[in-house]
Amino acid sequence: MITAYSPTGTTTAGLPAAPAPPDSSIFGRVHLGYIVIETRKFSDWERFGRDAIGLHVDTPTGDVLRFRLDDHKTRFLLRRGPAEDVMAIGWQIDDHESFDGVLARVIAHGVPLVELRPEEAQLRGVERAVRFPGPNGLVQELFTRAHTTTEPLVAVASGGFVTGESGLGHVAVVTKNPHQMRGYYSTVFDARLSDYIDETISGARMKIRFMRVNERHHSIAIANMRDAPLNPVRTRVQHLNIQVTELDDMMQAYQRTKELGFGITMSMGQHTNDKELSFYARTPSGFEWETGWNPIVIDENAWEPTTHQGISIWGHRPEVDKFVNAFTRVREAVGNLGHHEDPVAALSGPGIADD
Ligand SMILES: [Fe+2]
Repeated sequence: MITAYSPTGTTTAGLPAAPAPPDSSIFGRVHLGYIVIETRKFSDWERFGRDAIGLHVDTPTGDVLRFRLDDHKTRFLLRRGPAEDVMAIGWQIDDHESFDGVLARVIAHGVPLVELRPEEAQLRGVERAVRFPGPNGLVQELFTRAHTTTEPLVAVASGGFVTGESGLGHVAVVTKNPHQMRGYYSTVFDARLSDYIDETISGARMKIRFMRVNERHHSIAIANMRDAPLNPVRTRVQHLNIQVTELDDMMQAYQRTKELGFGITMSMGQHTNDKELSFYARTPSGFEWETGWNPIVIDENAWEPTTHQGISIWGHRPEVDKFVNAFTRVREAVGNLGHHEDPVAALSGPGIADD
């Protein structure tokens, strides 16, 4: 285990020295960079990613599938394995000073860091990266430089995707420990609260916190059931989100996804808080995938967190068989009753209470 990390790029085991934590916030210098998924369903994922959603697909080896959204060589890395889940999320940090600053925070809280082997960094399309534990088993990885390519995207979604400053999209999680999870992302990345949504789904009251680390309204959404410490979702994420540039690409992806037989978990609709138009589909691994268009961009000088009632202004209705949906939810909730969530307490502190 590596307990200290040198900012010069070499890992050192057992050394007590660590760079001083940064005084200044790294807000705005953090961007969701890539997602690592483990699955055995490569052919289903290839159909889902390329033929339904409209992504560029690369298959460097038989055990790896990669999706591109832009000039980054990897935005989604799919590895062969049994989990059927998201295993890690990679954050791009703008500069080495901020990168070292985040490492210093992690080390100062006594949480172990590991540098990825060069071949692992290569698969992720980055020069080098480190990883450390994240809440609910979602490993956090950091990098500064992505390998890029000038090869044009070969994607059905011909208008391309919104990434850049906003990062690749967002990740939504359900947790039994929402206050600690909010504390974690605030401690590590200086994440800010954008707003809350209160929603009731099948009689269960949910609260969702939307956290941003840059101009994107949220890069992480943290949901919990208000009346019971339950997590009905088997996977580490409830859904992933990407943003298309053109409305037409979202509507055509919706139609293709339906025609190819992937379950539409929520039809097209518009969210109350970030105003994004989107639809949700069930991925081959079971978690959901939101394809969206035109969310608002936050102006830091004119933003006040509020609470919205309900997730949608209109639409977002389930289209897959409702009985199967309810049955699946109950089965997963029962299956998850004994599931232990590690909140990574060293980095979440007492948490940030909000209800
Ligand atoms: Fe979302």
